[in-house]
Amino acid sequence: MSVFRTKSVEASMASSEEADHKLKRTLSALDLTVFGIGVIIGAGIFTLTGRAAKDYAGPSIALSFVIGAIVCGLAALCYAEFASTVPVSGSAYTFSYATLGELVAWIIGWDLLLELMLGASVVAQGWSQYFVTFLGQLGVTWPQSVGPGSHFDLPAFLLIAALTLLIAWGIKESLRVNLVLVGVKLFIVLFVIFAGIQFINRDNWSPFIPPSQPGKAAEGLTTPLLQVITGMTPATYGVMGIMAGAAIVFFAYIGFDVVATTAEEAKNPQRDLPRGILGSLAICTLLYVAVTLVITGMQNYKDIDPDAALATAFKSVGKEGYATLISAGAVAGLTTVVMTLIIGATRVTFAMSRDHLIPAGLGRTNPRTSTPVRLTLIIGTVVALIASLTPIGKLEEMVNIGTLTAFMLVSLAVPILRKRRPDLKRSFKVPGNPVVPWLSAAACFYLVLNLSVETWIRFVIWMLLGFLIYFLYSRHHSKLATGEEEEGRRAAPEVLSER
Ligand code: ALA
Repeated sequence: MSVFRTKSVEASMASSEEADHKLKRTLSALDLTVFGIGVIIGAGIFTLTGRAAKDYAGPSIALSFVIGAIVCGLAALCYAEFASTVPVSGSAYTFSYATLGELVAWIIGWDLLLELMLGASVVAQGWSQYFVTFLGQLGVTWPQSVGPGSHFDLPAFLLIAALTLLIAWGIKESLRVNLVLVGVKLFIVLFVIFAGIQFINRDNWSPFIPPSQPGKAAEGLTTPLLQVITGMTPATYGVMGIMAGAAIVFFAYIGFDVVATTAEEAKNPQRDLPRGILGSLAICTLLYVAVTLVITGMQNYKDIDPDAALATAFKSVGKEGYATLISAGAVAGLTTVVMTLIIGATRVTFAMSRDHLIPAGLGRTNPRTSTPVRLTLIIGTVVALIASLTPIGKLEEMVNIGTLTAFMLVSLAVPILRKRRPDLKRSFKVPGNPVVPWLSAAACFYLVLNLSVETWIRFVIWMLLGFLIYFLYSRHHSKLATGEEEEGRRAAPEVLSER
């Protein structure tokens, strides 16, 4: 069936050489790692940690972070193998086009858009909250009528508008700004760890895993799907609490996959992408576990502030000034997350437009900036409108479901590509294939099942919309359908095959 047609790896590589769809190769392994850290550390550690520790896992939230890291680490290995084999823009979308066929590639691209665009909107709203809090700490009052939670979140809108212009101007320039902001963010996280250590009271860690208790029964559409299927009673704390915590703090790790979307802009993608992906994930895991141990050591988990755990922990030990510093760090930190997610979204749609699954004219790169200016402006506008006009609330879960589905499909694709194309040069290989990729897919599936019924319903609607576009437009216009891909195939670079 035509929906299972695949675009060869060589054709994907050749597409990246098209003159009017070409990106500049400027990024080093360090740039990629910084890019990764820039997008990973964000709303997850600054806000979700407190909520998850208080409501689900207590001090053992540190273990939830370890589990989250294992799930993401497995998926990261699969991403790293793909990125080192098919180093073109578009990340999981491109990988799956080469293995699982056009329809699956479309589904993944569509999921990634959900992850990246909604993720950017959610984090921009979080940024807006921290920004207004920070201004308040400086004695400046932002008008509530155009603040976070109002009908029009002006700070979120302005942030996205500014970042969109910066991204359209040029990726290297964006990364320079990123570098400064990531530096500030790392400083704040390290500050929390080192300044907090002296206030740790070990009694707060005891019991490290609070005994399991019957949880608040989730009702109706907010019930996790797994619970509906198995009829299990909800529980908090204990081992189940650690698992539930992991499903929530998964959000904190989202972003390492975005490194793979910049593959075409890396100087030496085969070597540096695996380094960037695995390196940024490893650094963030260490920082996260350290921060959670400090925060749960400073305050009893029952007293942790679910909205601003980091800042409040310092207030609780009489260090108000530190809290202001942390808010400032959060403003800087969340800025880079929003920016990187928008870059990721433009790169995925860029790859889709190059394959003509969405109109090709949208993805044309501007000769002066070498960036897809039109797509960047469109994505920026959509994200700005969602962030400023929608009361997003629980939509973080939508980000998780989109991401986990993409991770699952990428993991399944690794053994398939190994079988179909054993000849391809893989500078990084997942150890223990096919067991490790399958484990990765199973772990993602388990977390997806822990998401609520309402999230599943919204996800199904999003997917139906995607199918509608695919079957009405993309299927008939794709380069594979029109035969234009053949030229790309003939122009395939030889570097791919191992001799
Ligand atoms: N991992 C990113 C964050 O925590 C999305 O904000």
